[in-house]
Amino acid sequence: MQTNLRGRDMITTLEWTKEELETALDVAFRLKQERALGIPHPLLRDKTLAMLFFYSSTRTRSSFEAGMAQLGGHAAFIESRTTQISHGDTAKEIGQILGRYFDGIAIRNVDWGIGNKYIRDVASASRVPVLNMQCDIFHPFQILADLMTIMEKKGDPKGKRIVVSWAYAASYLKPISVPQSLILLMPRFGMDVVLSYPPEFPLMPEIVDEAKALARKHGTGFEIVHDMDEGFKGADVVYAKSWGPLLTTTDPEEGKRLQDKYKDWIVSEERMKLAAPDAIYMHPLPADRDIEVASAVLDGPQSVVFDEAENRLHVQKAVMALTMR
Ligand code: CP
Repeated sequence: MQTNLRGRDMITTLEWTKEELETALDVAFRLKQERALGIPHPLLRDKTLAMLFFYSSTRTRSSFEAGMAQLGGHAAFIESRTTQISHGDTAKEIGQILGRYFDGIAIRNVDWGIGNKYIRDVASASRVPVLNMQCDIFHPFQILADLMTIMEKKGDPKGKRIVVSWAYAASYLKPISVPQSLILLMPRFGMDVVLSYPPEFPLMPEIVDEAKALARKHGTGFEIVHDMDEGFKGADVVYAKSWGPLLTTTDPEEGKRLQDKYKDWIVSEERMKLAAPDAIYMHPLPADRDIEVASAVLDGPQSVVFDEAENRLHVQKAVMALTMR
């Protein structure tokens, strides 16, 4: 257990050691248990968090806001369009100024080629921890909640097989931060990773190279396939969601045309039968019902999506309590 996390940013799990991540997970399990028992834990009394959003959210906003209140503090929701950012407040002003008012700055900016740099620029100017609520490259709190959920449902992740699969969505071109963060974190906790996507939907090559290197270092499997059925075979954890073909095109119309080629990449009950009989189905949500995943799977006995969403609250409280105290 590491006890020196005060002041640390959480921009990607890569920048935390395994022992530091295990500390955050230990605290998350403790806070979850205390909440179930009705034991108050005002670990951040009188502390404040700025939550700066450049993009919509249901779970992230709600869980950070509820989490700060449960820790005895307050979270301020700041929608970027209501600020002076478009009139000259750069990342430096945001880091400097919000860092003087608040004890932590959380940011969601998923703009392709911009989000991660923006968050890092704010962090460079900030005297308080900066928390990544999702950028174009990483979604660290989602992935920590995912790992917590896998531990709850499957026990020790070591030796378990996770398929991180693309799935069709009709709604919009979704960010690639979730699959990228998954393939980077799970090898460090001993999981074999199968990454499955149609050829036009690759992830960032440097992220895939890093994931392969982590798999080699930790002695775990890492495979890439371009067939949804192949990916599902024998998986203990099915994590299938849509993402945009951002490495191929950033044009929304061309991206939609590419997505529409693969309408059969849906998580169906039949496909789930290819996975291990006790496999769990995961998705960060929101999902396109009966397009990305059949409702029978999303609402079925193998789905753990609501426990997964709940665990956002617990891991975020843990990281805030450790970094913002
Ligand atoms: N999973 C997730 O980040 O959900 P929101 O986009 O609703 O915050």
